[in-house]
Amino acid sequence: MSHIILTGIKPTGEPHLGNYLGAIKPALKMAKENPNAQKYFFIADYHALTTLKDPKLMRDYRHIIAATWLSFFENEPGCDFYFQSDISEIFELYWILSCCCPKGLLNRAHAYKALVNQNIEHNHDPDKQINQGLFSYPVLMAADILLFNANKVPVGADQKQHVEIAGEIVNFINRFLADPISKPEPLIDKSVEIIIGIDGQKMSKNYNNTIPIFSEDKVIKKLIGKIQTDSTPLGTPLNPESCNIFKLISYLASSNQIAEIEDEYKQGKIGYGHAKKYLYELHIDYFKKANEQYQFYLNKPIELEKKLENSTIKVKNTAKSNLLKIKEAFGY
Ligand code: TRP
Repeated sequence: MSHIILTGIKPTGEPHLGNYLGAIKPALKMAKENPNAQKYFFIADYHALTTLKDPKLMRDYRHIIAATWLSFFENEPGCDFYFQSDISEIFELYWILSCCCPKGLLNRAHAYKALVNQNIEHNHDPDKQINQGLFSYPVLMAADILLFNANKVPVGADQKQHVEIAGEIVNFINRFLADPISKPEPLIDKSVEIIIGIDGQKMSKNYNNTIPIFSEDKVIKKLIGKIQTDSTPLGTPLNPESCNIFKLISYLASSNQIAEIEDEYKQGKIGYGHAKKYLYELHIDYFKKANEQYQFYLNKPIELEKKLENSTIKVKNTAKSNLLKIKEAFGY
């Protein structure tokens, strides 16, 4: 069976190292290994609406994430890029899936459960500030995936359960379909552990502790400078294994560079200040090419729209014919 690869990014902030290492990098690896496969990379802008209701920010972030996709994948063959909100068929399928998906499956979703538990802890109504969109978030995600029969879904570890829920929904809907939909498989990059943010917690937009991919050099420098460390004095050996700066370095550096820096750590030749400088230089160098593409598309929205337009027409045609078959199976 040939691979159909699909993944989305929610436009709720600037893309950061956590997004890159957890989702974009594994998707890029998958794309390079499967040049002939159909690949869908989209901007999950209706997912963003569950939390983001500021029109100016929504416009900016949609644009930023579209430019991000193009900056990394434009030259890979077989990729299509689109805004989720432009493919209305996804939302029709969303409803059909909603009517097949047991509510209990959604009650068990981590993201929803965490919010309910937080409310209960604070003695609030369990559903305080939880909108219906947030509750059914995994169903919309299933529609994104199942409409295109995608079987490989590269995601960060936090999205694994959502892809598994999509897999369960497949079992419920396939009972009605002559042409069964394939079960999507979440692809998690096992070599990447949880990415730690500058404050020592998991890197996440929610915690305001991210290192962006494409910000101005001085912003990146400042944020890397803020990474929390212990107070080992300069000249004392450092343990690379327990150092977050070293971890980030090891994701961006070549194996020779890693070995060299590891040695310097162990021999007490460098302090955290130097390590941060290495990380900063690596970061700038690693994303240099992608950053040029990104800036190009950010400054030329017309070029960006043109790129997405061709993909969107093609994707919409596939979406239409796939949806039609599913609708027919239900008597429409
Ligand atoms: N929920 C994903 C995230 O927050 C984004 C997303 C939406 C997605 N639809 C998807 C990812 C379908 C993979 C497949 O990162």
